Amino acid sequence: MGNPAHVPGNANPPSFYSLLTAIRTFTNQFFCNPHVATGHRMPSIIFTTMKRRKMIFILPGMLCAGILIAGFSINPRSADPPTKAQLGEKLFFDPLLSKDRSISCASCHIPQYGFADTLTFSIGIHHTATKRNTPGITNLSGRPNFFWDGRAASLEEQALQPIANPDEMGLPVEEAVQRLNEHDSYRQYFQQVFNSAPTAKNLSQALAAFERTLETANSPYDRYIAGNDSALTPSAIRGRMLFIGKANCNNCHSGEDFTADRFKNIGLYNGTTLKDAGRFDATKDSAHLGFFKVPSLRNVAVTAPYMHNGMFKTLKDVIAYYNTPDSIVHDGIHRDLSLNKPLHLNKDEMTDLENFLIALTDDRFKVAHH
Ligand code: HEC
Ligand code: HEC
Repeated sequence: MGNPAHVPGNANPPSFYSLLTAIRTFTNQFFCNPHVATGHRMPSIIFTTMKRRKMIFILPGMLCAGILIAGFSINPRSADPPTKAQLGEKLFFDPLLSKDRSISCASCHIPQYGFADTLTFSIGIHHTATKRNTPGITNLSGRPNFFWDGRAASLEEQALQPIANPDEMGLPVEEAVQRLNEHDSYRQYFQQVFNSAPTAKNLSQALAAFERTLETANSPYDRYIAGNDSALTPSAIRGRMLFIGKANCNNCHSGEDFTADRFKNIGLYNGTTLKDAGRFDATKDSAHLGFFKVPSLRNVAVTAPYMHNGMFKTLKDVIAYYNTPDSIVHDGIHRDLSLNKPLHLNKDEMTDLENFLIALTDDRFKVAHH
């Protein structure tokens, strides 16, 4: 079960810098992102300021001020030089990195939803849908593989792929680097942080450094593991016992982040109606057909919909699947043997398990969930 000595989360206090970024992101998204404008998606508000969701109501009035401040106050000559992670944060929220300047990383990895999307498939430039569901990206710093099929081996290697991916940001990496070089403030920031002009390599390093700050370890579950017995409700405590015991979830979702960094097949590939071959795409080994990265379950309550294809809308749906997989997908190929028998969880037990999963939510995401 979870290791109590989990790497402490980066407290990431809201800084003036983040606030400015938030205002800029909001203005960018609100005015420049067609999906927001047409109401398909909530405007994203930066992680560090999400407790200020009430700002939504005063933001319209502040937008003009925001544009002015954001335009004139981020003056690298007068402010402290940014850290690598702060530069990465700015890039993460900047639609400059997409071909038509409409999409940033945060358009799909939305801060208040654990950096996941609320759509089954996200929408990239030119309204193209992504081929897979957008995963949350908290607690990735210790992971050895990225993407549902594990095709990237580091956050640095991962970071450039969405920029170039035609379904996502559609901007060849060389062009992205050129844009940054033509941009006065970015040229200066890269100089300050890397002592170099922007390159593909330091662009990926900055984005990865920001992503490594998204560690979370401040959930009711963490407090319970640290010795506070009343941090979990009795139902969530029963859910934890089911997770480890009767429901056997821990067989795959183990370790401090509930992933164990393995690839497993839970039966969501049948080659006909469910065609995503998962890990096979990366290895071309037919033994890997239908295997997917076991995702971390931290903050999972705020990252619906679920699975590589977003086929389950709620945690209840997910638990119902594991309870009787055959009643939902009867012809999954090479499904893990541990899922061969129904779990026989009754209604109360399913609720307990759900409450345990909800207790893995870091406090900073609470507002979004309730
Ligand atoms: C258009 C939506 C979209 C945009 C924009 C986008 N992503 Fe993603 N992201 C996805 C999807 C979909 C996946 C899963 C793809 C897969 O597994 O094949 C993903 C996967 C990831 C992962 C792997 C997570 C894991 O658990 O393995 C990371 C990290 C990530 N994205 C970071 C970024 C960064 C950094 C940017 C900006 C440079 C970005 N994304 C832009 C949709 C998006
Ligand atoms: C045999 C290994 C295995 C077992 C056992 C298992 N899981 Fe999973 N779990 C996975 C894999 C692999 C995925 C991703 C599958 C996919 O996308 O096709 C996943 C996905 C999930 C997701 C969706 C996460 C997301 O971000 O979309 C949740 C929630 C989840 N599992 C909870 C549970 C619970 C609760 C149990 C116990 C009832 C359990 N799992 C048992 C391997 C397993």
